[in-house]
Amino acid sequence: MELDQAIRGRRSIRKYTDRDVEDDKIKALLEAAYWAPRVNERWVFIVVRDPETKKVLSRYDAESGRTQPHVANAPVDIVVCTDLRGASERDRRLYAMQEASAAIQNILLKAYDLGLGSCWNGSFDDDAVKNVLGLPEGVEPIAIISLGYPAESGRGIRRKKLEEIVHWERWGNRRPF
Ligand SMILES: Cc1cc2nc3c(=O)[nH]c(=O)nc-3n(C[C@H](O)[C@H](O)[C@H](O)COP(=O)(O)O)c2cc1C
Repeated sequence: MELDQAIRGRRSIRKYTDRDVEDDKIKALLEAAYWAPRVNERWVFIVVRDPETKKVLSRYDAESGRTQPHVANAPVDIVVCTDLRGASERDRRLYAMQEASAAIQNILLKAYDLGLGSCWNGSFDDDAVKNVLGLPEGVEPIAIISLGYPAESGRGIRRKKLEEIVHWERWGNRRPF
């Protein structure tokens, strides 16, 4: 797929068919993550197919027990974690999150390229996720990527205009393209 088509055409997909995602496609997604820009490779990827585990991943409010159903209903979730054991202050605050985010974006684009639908989910119950996945102390979940063959085309979300988010040379200097 042409790069611009992938960047512009990808949408968050939250409805999936029952078709399972083949292991070789999951491997291709993880290889895409692997080739993202990296600092210390603190990233860790946990592939989850187990329905009970996915139910826990789908919870985002410990008190009310509210869930994001698409996380439970996706055939596969990839939980992106970062291993902060021994990390420097800058690593914790910036690098670990940035390299993980680069990997996540690679996974989303590759998924679209492979005909899969995906959604980046940042809303989840941290403690429940750590517990159900058996994460060691210091390993933090960052995002859950829900994946499957798409059963919707995704909705376009209104975005700010490019001019609204770009400053030239210094804060406040705006100009039209
Ligand atoms: C850091 C981050 C966290 C997100 N968390 C969630 C989430 O918890 N649940 C969800 O359905 N979508 C989540 N999204 C997806 C956004 O809602 C989505 O990207 C946005 O609405 C734009 O739509 P698009 O991806 O189709 O372009 C998240 C996206 C980012 C970047």
